[in-house]
Amino acid sequence: MERSGVSRRALGALALGGALGGAAIGLSGCEGAVETDLKPRSRRFPKDFVWGVATAAFQTEGSQAADGRGPSVWDVFEKIPGHVKDGSDATVATDSYRRFQDDVDLIAGAGLGAYRFSISWSRILPSGEGVVNPAGLDHYSKLVDALLAKGITPYATLFHWDLPQGLQAKGGWAARDTALRFADYAHAVVDTLGDRLKHYIILNEAAVHAVFGHVLGEHAPGLKDINLLGKVVHHMNLGQGLAIQALRAGASGLNVGTTMALQPCRPAGGPLAVWNRLASDGLDALWNKAWLDPLFRGTYPKEMDDFLKGVVQDGDLQTIQQPLDFLGVNYYAPAYVRLDLNSPSKIAPANPPKGAELDAFGRHIDPSGLLEVLDRVRREYGAPRMMVTENGCSDPFGNGPGILKDDFRIAYLRRHLEAVLAAREAGCDVRGYFEWTLIDNFEWDLGYTSKFGLVAMDRATGVRTPKASYAWFKALAGSGALPAA
Ligand code: FCB
Repeated sequence: MERSGVSRRALGALALGGALGGAAIGLSGCEGAVETDLKPRSRRFPKDFVWGVATAAFQTEGSQAADGRGPSVWDVFEKIPGHVKDGSDATVATDSYRRFQDDVDLIAGAGLGAYRFSISWSRILPSGEGVVNPAGLDHYSKLVDALLAKGITPYATLFHWDLPQGLQAKGGWAARDTALRFADYAHAVVDTLGDRLKHYIILNEAAVHAVFGHVLGEHAPGLKDINLLGKVVHHMNLGQGLAIQALRAGASGLNVGTTMALQPCRPAGGPLAVWNRLASDGLDALWNKAWLDPLFRGTYPKEMDDFLKGVVQDGDLQTIQQPLDFLGVNYYAPAYVRLDLNSPSKIAPANPPKGAELDAFGRHIDPSGLLEVLDRVRREYGAPRMMVTENGCSDPFGNGPGILKDDFRIAYLRRHLEAVLAAREAGCDVRGYFEWTLIDNFEWDLGYTSKFGLVAMDRATGVRTPKASYAWFKALAGSGALPAA
């Protein structure tokens, strides 16, 4: 996909436009309010509001061969030239497999009550299935204990895009069997850790993994096959349902959630606005509803029918529709979409409104989009309890060190937390907020050129240096009072 000015996470629209259309990305402007800030009545979060940071195993751990870990799809993908922008890889990352106590100390030092990390499936089951590797479990057992010792609640994501390569070789998420193996893995985790690890997030941003990994080829496993889409979507949903069942069967008193990359899909304006609306509705179906609908309603949106032909078996939708303790919402930016008749998907990306403030990815910095997705879940999906499980922004892309005086990040976080307060005032049951991320890490296909951390890291020495945003976030978590600009 052409990268000019747009990026992978800029949206599925770009994704589908690029992948299905193969067309150059012609950008057309969107109309709409550029005023995006919210003005909540109160600037105070409740005392029991959960403050945390989020990370993912592949982006932080390194130590890829340690203690019997097997390869994941990302180990294979990152080594193929051209896949990672700066030619880097995650063999060291933030060295967090070995230095996890340093991470825990930083989290405790910021006074945060929660840490969202992900478990690497291929540390627990090196080929994805079969015999459990006790050394892999032992690592997470130590991490959980270290967190609990400091009064930090661990939230473990079971799948953050790093499928064991052994399962990919058998078809990966396009194969129904992977959903069953995922439940076995969930069982292995809860069986050992379930007495102390009580908070689980089943999948991270399945839409990103499905589209960027299987249609666009920009993420592992690097496939470009639209015919896989329905199978991958459904088997991830099914695996999620089975894993929730396995967790609940394995331990009591659990808090089980799952995390989605929810994005408002907005049509470009102009004379074709009505048609652009069709395109943005199509993207909305794939990006948001294909995950929310089966989970909360036991149905798929009709736009998915063609993709799902012959894929859904009797009883699957009942398995997927599991009760959830919370929905995790990741939010970075809205998607702007237009109709493109030259594209088989008819979907193409559009420019953000003129004058919109853009992030490092060229996306619209729009806190109102966070309110929009939270309130949509409240109105359309039965007002579940929610946690913002990722939100944050990158330094401008580059190879230099992380920016320590990161006022732009403080402003981004403040404005999005105003949206969280506004959502709560609108009746959304939002209980927590996890900033992405603790330390500048391996940002997938962007390597180390994109930096989201509250803490910078010298990659030569591993030395960690807190940025201004770390102190700001610490003050907020301590007081619960969101400072004004
Ligand atoms: C999210 C991913 C996370 C990280 C941030 C910047 O989409 O879940 O791993 O890449 O974006």
